[in-house]
Amino acid sequence: MARQLFVTTALPYANGAFHIGHIMEYIQADTWVRAQRMRGAEVNFVCADDAHGAPIMIAAEKAGKTPQQFVADIAAGRPAYLNGFHIAFDNWHSTDGPENHALAQSIYRALRKNELIDVRTVEQFFDPDKKMFLPDRFIKGECPKCGTKDQYGDNCESCGAVYSPTELKHPYSALSGATPVLRTSEHYFFKLSDPRCVEFLEQWTQDGKLQPEVANKVKEWFTRDEDGKTGLGDWDISRDAPYFGIEIPDAPGKYFYVWLDAPVGYLASLQNLLDKRGEDMAAYLADPAVEQYHFIGKDIVTFHTLFWPAMLHFSGRKVPNNVFVHGFITVSGEKMSKSRGTGISPLRYLEVGLNPEWLRYYIAAKLNARVEDIDFNPEDFVARVNADLVGKYINIASRAAGFITKRFDGHLSGDLGVEGRVLLDGLRAQRAAIELLYEEREFGRCVREIMLLADRVNEFVDQHKPWDLARQVGQEAALHDTCSVCIEAFRLLTIYLKPILPALAAQVESFLRVAPLQFADAQRALGHHAIGEYKHLMQRVDAAKVDLLFEAPAEAPPPAPGGEALAAEIKIDDFAKVDLRIALIVNAEHVEGSDKLLRLTLDVGEGRPRNVFSGIKSAYKPEDLIGKHTVMVANLAPRKMKFGLSEGMVLAASHADEKAHPGIFVLEPWPGSKPGMRVR
Ligand code: 2FM
Ligand code: ZN
Repeated sequence: MARQLFVTTALPYANGAFHIGHIMEYIQADTWVRAQRMRGAEVNFVCADDAHGAPIMIAAEKAGKTPQQFVADIAAGRPAYLNGFHIAFDNWHSTDGPENHALAQSIYRALRKNELIDVRTVEQFFDPDKKMFLPDRFIKGECPKCGTKDQYGDNCESCGAVYSPTELKHPYSALSGATPVLRTSEHYFFKLSDPRCVEFLEQWTQDGKLQPEVANKVKEWFTRDEDGKTGLGDWDISRDAPYFGIEIPDAPGKYFYVWLDAPVGYLASLQNLLDKRGEDMAAYLADPAVEQYHFIGKDIVTFHTLFWPAMLHFSGRKVPNNVFVHGFITVSGEKMSKSRGTGISPLRYLEVGLNPEWLRYYIAAKLNARVEDIDFNPEDFVARVNADLVGKYINIASRAAGFITKRFDGHLSGDLGVEGRVLLDGLRAQRAAIELLYEEREFGRCVREIMLLADRVNEFVDQHKPWDLARQVGQEAALHDTCSVCIEAFRLLTIYLKPILPALAAQVESFLRVAPLQFADAQRALGHHAIGEYKHLMQRVDAAKVDLLFEAPAEAPPPAPGGEALAAEIKIDDFAKVDLRIALIVNAEHVEGSDKLLRLTLDVGEGRPRNVFSGIKSAYKPEDLIGKHTVMVANLAPRKMKFGLSEGMVLAASHADEKAHPGIFVLEPWPGSKPGMRVR
């Protein structure tokens, strides 16, 4: 029977684009899932947007949208990243979906039936300026446990402590800066301090499944004081209206705190997927053979190892088999901010044309099964991709494939010679070890092992020198065998790397003319098989492109007008060098194959039209531009572009951070100006 796996990554808050921390987690989980599938497992791999909570409600209001619209707009941006980095979730859903409302309420009802819900009057912080109860995320202060400053009201990003906002030292309202005052309100609690919960959780967290450092950290919650009480307090799971969330049954005006319904979103996304397929989720999860795993970051361990398993267990559901915790990703040693990410944006990575699989490879090479932070270092990135991936692995195919095509009509030799067979047997012998390293999430070791195998293959090539054999008379058979060994070795290495490099592996499969590779295929040999023509599979990284990632730091000082610091001062003569002219837009049209550019035909009073490509497609329809006047730089050196010659530039305003502040605004002169007039 195939192994049955239900796998998730943490649900990202639907109030911002992905940063590299998200992408790292998705690459980790996706690699693991792909390896499992290649071993024959059946996997449901899901995620969703974490839609609820006060911060999203407030952000939506600021953006002038309903929370639903706000969240939908964020969700619309997800596929570009997920497809871009080959993250193959089977489903992407939202915690605001109907499945989640029903599931969260049903879990709550079961907990209540189990007498694990309590209603208490609590004192809560109220912002006297804004006249509202302050959401946890809008109260800041010092962590009551470790004293770190500027922590949010629900948990500490430094030590991971979870507490209620009233426990913060020196609290202040992040909305108004005012010192909040206490007001009473009725809140609902999940009684985690109940002996049944303590007993279950102590067992669940300390039975050896968790990563040692995670188990150790969580263990602190179970140390008992003199009265035998543990650190596990009851958990406040309600918030007062106005709140964007799920209503608590039989409690008008009360909503589930976002962290109650967020992990339920794992089940909601699964339900949504299985419904679409016409499968029964209850039956699926009732099957004891189904294993459930959550990939998460180290900052949300408490929610996933205490609250979530308890919610599941005491509502009579399957509990996770394990929670896989990773550290953070720094960029050139710099720590990331949770909301803004690091200085490099994953979308920019894709836009500048860097290959997504380079990042997958680099991140995999750095990851292990521990909760360690990893660092993206640009020089290291370039070196590893170029030296290992391209230099060691891709090179094997490029050195051998040409001979097979030109000299042997694309056919591999059936016999491979003794040394070749020994080499290939050695490669095959590592299969089990490599599978195990994937299983254990020891991707870094996995990559190192595979590169050692690639070294062996390259030594073989250097010894047998196919380029020499090709020049000698009577060495046809030796050349054929040597190159066939290389191709077979390349196929084996491709199998081993496929969880990390899925798109490349697909290209290799079509070049080799083989069905999608599984681990079991390592044990078979290609034999006298015909392969296709070799086309270059992967380029080296151009370090200059990597530099583009660091241009224009997103964290520029905020007070700069339009998000951009002023350029260096110039003299009037400098300005006079720029010849600005009034131009009439005679024609405007789409450019086939470009999603950014419009082709403009401009009359600048020269008796001949100018052709200008302008990156304003996102903001203007061609028909709205035709007949309008604008301002252009008329003495800009003509520039050859992919689509033709651009003879100048139209002026337009935009914010430095166009992602965060979208909009492009073409300049239009006041009425009366004529084409060709100089602007000075
Ligand atoms: O920390 C976060 O980004 C949360 N949105 C993670 C939620 S994970 C799960 F519980 F939904
Ligand atoms: Zn702390």
